[in-house]
Amino acid sequence: MSKVTVVGAGNVGATCANVLAFNEVADEVVMLDVKEGVSEGKAMDMMQCAQLLGFDTTVVGCTNDYEKTANSDVVVITSGIPRKPGMTREELIGVNAGIVKTVAENLLKYSPNAILVVVSNPMDTLTYLALKTLGLPKNRIIGMGGALDSSRFKYFLSQALGCNANEVEGMVIGGHGDTTMIPLTRYATYKGMPVSQFLSAEKLEEVAAATMVGGATLTKLLGTSAWYAPGAASAFVVEAILHNQMKMVPCSVSLEGEYGQDDICIGVPVILGRNGIERIVEIELNEDEKAKFEASADAVRATNGALKEVGAL
Ligand code: 2OP
Repeated sequence: MSKVTVVGAGNVGATCANVLAFNEVADEVVMLDVKEGVSEGKAMDMMQCAQLLGFDTTVVGCTNDYEKTANSDVVVITSGIPRKPGMTREELIGVNAGIVKTVAENLLKYSPNAILVVVSNPMDTLTYLALKTLGLPKNRIIGMGGALDSSRFKYFLSQALGCNANEVEGMVIGGHGDTTMIPLTRYATYKGMPVSQFLSAEKLEEVAAATMVGGATLTKLLGTSAWYAPGAASAFVVEAILHNQMKMVPCSVSLEGEYGQDDICIGVPVILGRNGIERIVEIELNEDEKAKFEASADAVRATNGALKEVGAL
């Protein structure tokens, strides 16, 4: 029996649960929310798709009842408030840090062996908060951002190339922020060939810039932050873990010397498997990429500093 809990049945959490059910990633998916009836209603709505879409996963909704989440293999935290147009992810820390800490502590009471996937923003800082406060080994604390940012990067690359996004490979490392993420254009490929064979340097810069503000662009269009790709990216990370896929995915993880960094959670390529982070992959960065990574780490560290100010650390 495999079981996943998704906390927060808002747009991102419910989309994640829906993708997990549709793809039969786990036998059971529990959605938990603080709003009375919302996760129960969404779970029932999803279960009424089971026969239409042909899936066997059971989706259960509950209001703040952590007992129902017991013995989850993976828990996904999407709780907290999303950003509004014009806001940065970092501005959410005051509200979201306290929520994420409480939720994670409650979850671990009932699922002490679970692997934690952090989605709430500011994602890198809340992943760091989990690392610092929960006493879990670092392989079990994973921030989802890089999976989403890389998917957006591949989308923008495919648009520029005029091809199917599945023909494109690429990764975004660094922080999950409008100015902190680093789309690795130098390593991106189209059918195994460097994208620089097909796109000019200016075009690649445009793609990188569009990727970095990918979330902000959608927030402006939607009036709240996006959910289809964030939900699907969360489910993608869960599947890689639960099915021991050993996929290389950029995720926000604790660094202890890798990439010249310490005491931080930030996006780097990792191998995801049944133990969570199976290993961190150190790729070679050129001087420009290294400088960007250092600046990104400095910015993430500055946001981490706010955890003390809001009393979360
Ligand atoms: C985004 O980038 C929600 O942070 C998420 O859309």
